[in-house]
Amino acid sequence: MITFVWAEDENGVIGLNGELPWSLPNDMKFFKEVTLTGNVLMGRKTLESIPNPPLKNRINVVMTRDDTYEADEVIVMNDRESVLILAESMDKPLHIIGGADIFNLFIDDVDKLYRTLIHEKFQGDTYMPEINYNNFKMIESREGLLDEKNRHAHTFQIFERIAK
Ligand SMILES: NC(=O)c1ccc[n+]([C@@H]2O[C@H](COP(=O)([O-])OP(=O)(O)OC[C@H]3O[C@@H](n4cnc5c(N)ncnc54)[C@H](OP(=O)(O)O)[C@@H]3O)[C@@H](O)[C@H]2O)c1
Repeated sequence: MITFVWAEDENGVIGLNGELPWSLPNDMKFFKEVTLTGNVLMGRKTLESIPNPPLKNRINVVMTRDDTYEADEVIVMNDRESVLILAESMDKPLHIIGGADIFNLFIDDVDKLYRTLIHEKFQGDTYMPEINYNNFKMIESREGLLDEKNRHAHTFQIFERIAK
């Protein structure tokens, strides 16, 4: 199974200057809980935005077009087909964690969506590609709790694919 796990603002912004535009520890916690149920796939830029890669206790797969690229404890893949074969061979979900290029590449393959919707508008330079939500059914929606460290109103949503 292939999933997407991401957070976006009201305009679909997901990134700014190679980083997340917001600080939302609750979402990091949710991200960790979800992705620990499987393995993770990300683009080279997203890998390089993680402070101490790889993400622990998950197989980390990175996509790059550079066939000489190396990163410690990370599987490097150069094309979509190899990733699909790998995902098929895994007994756990392959969670795709971005960024935009990689979401776009697997937009027709994804089975389940974990979207954190942040109810604000941020400055950004990277956007979530358009998803046809007619092909998905929302199975869960839960408001995130706000506190001193989590000041941006947000909703955790889970969707399952119902049509191709
Ligand atoms: N809000 C969220 O949930 C979220 C999630 C993830 C990332 N982000 C943010 O998004 C930004 C990074 O995303 P991004 O879209 O710029 O980059 P990205 O998708 O993480 O990485 C792009 C790289 O992936 C490789 N790639 C892309 N298409 C490929 C293909 N068809 N085959 C093989 N390799 C391919 C290329 O690497 P090479 O250049 O090495 O060839 C490309 O430069 C950051 O700001 C990050 O913080 C946000």
